[in-house]
Amino acid sequence: MFNSNFPILKRKINGRRLVYLDNASTTQKPQNVILAMTDFYEHHNANIHRGIHTLSQEATQMYEGARDKVQKFINAKYREEIIFTSGATEAINLVVWTWGHENIKRGDEILLTEMEHHSNLVPWQILARKKGAKLKFIPLNETWNLKLETLNKLITRRTKMVALTHISNVLGTINPVEKIIKAAHKKGAMVLIDGAQAGGHISVDVQKLGADFYVLSGHKMYGPTGVGVLYGRKEILENMPPYQSGGHMIRSVDWQNSTWNDLPWKLEAGTANIADVIGLGAAIDFINKVGLRAVKNHELRIMNYVLRELGKISGIEIYGPESGKDRIGVISFNAAGVPPHDLASILDQRGIAIRTGHHCAMPLHRKLGVESTARASFAIYNTKSDIDALIKGIKYAIQLFCS
Ligand SMILES: Cc1ncc(COP(=O)(O)O)c(C=O)c1O
Repeated sequence: MFNSNFPILKRKINGRRLVYLDNASTTQKPQNVILAMTDFYEHHNANIHRGIHTLSQEATQMYEGARDKVQKFINAKYREEIIFTSGATEAINLVVWTWGHENIKRGDEILLTEMEHHSNLVPWQILARKKGAKLKFIPLNETWNLKLETLNKLITRRTKMVALTHISNVLGTINPVEKIIKAAHKKGAMVLIDGAQAGGHISVDVQKLGADFYVLSGHKMYGPTGVGVLYGRKEILENMPPYQSGGHMIRSVDWQNSTWNDLPWKLEAGTANIADVIGLGAAIDFINKVGLRAVKNHELRIMNYVLRELGKISGIEIYGPESGKDRIGVISFNAAGVPPHDLASILDQRGIAIRTGHHCAMPLHRKLGVESTARASFAIYNTKSDIDALIKGIKYAIQLFCS
């Protein structure tokens, strides 16, 4: 579906049609995103917010227009609640280095889950060590979901932050974040949701969810690399100190002291990543044009087909929910007797791109008892014939290694 919108899909890899199944790492970019960025550089390039001249005003409108698109896309109440960052990683670090440093004290607890990406684990580890706080983890159950029955015990009066992924980048599990947010708020804890794998796959309504912070990764939702989003509730962002400082984030500067700009610019120091933010706006246009319901239905069909076909191959172990509504099309697996790295090389010879390794989730892989998994992940442009090629390639690799 919509394949003709993605120029790269015309490429041949090793003489074969490109079958791109590494979408959880980064998605391919539709033509309108590429064109929006070239159009900016060819016709509107100037720095934003500072110029009276026409180009600067056009660039400012385009940049701020993208903020409006993000606001609408996740249904934030105010446009000032949308902060552009370099990615999901920076958005999480922004919260850790501002809100975290102000609010986390010795003896406080930060609750994460056993399925976090390193980006939503390592920054909290650094903060906890520095402040003398404690990290706790919501465990996984045998169906690859979070053990919700442990929540009541795990969230205590000392819990200041619950930070968890909306969708696991290894297991594909969709977490019941609304329930977890309610439980955390009941005990007075803040909640950050890492939506890096959710944006562009399922609809996100931050007001309905009630999250305090929600993070998006532009390049995983058909946008360019180098851009992400931090959503934060306005009253929280208003009370946060600046993250980085310098130009653009100030209202007034004296030799000894400075005062801060209004939101969102207080948290966007320096010249912004203007072209990529505009590219992200175009990616949202693309997703809206396809429609998130259509995206979800398409990916669900593809995912169920893959799970069914993988299930027919003996020796395949899938790490993640078996099927259905609890998961999206991020499928980590191992084929008995075939090292994941070799499997990926064999598939690459056939033009098929998958990912292998720990997928930035080493503790989770340790828990799974493996060092590495193969991961195929899907997007709007994947077709049944992509899956047929994948399955055929896996069978070939097994035959090569196991006969
Ligand atoms: C769940 C999750 N969180 C965070 C990230 C980091 O995103 P970014 O590349 O935008 O920093 C990723 C990237 O793989 C991810 O899958």
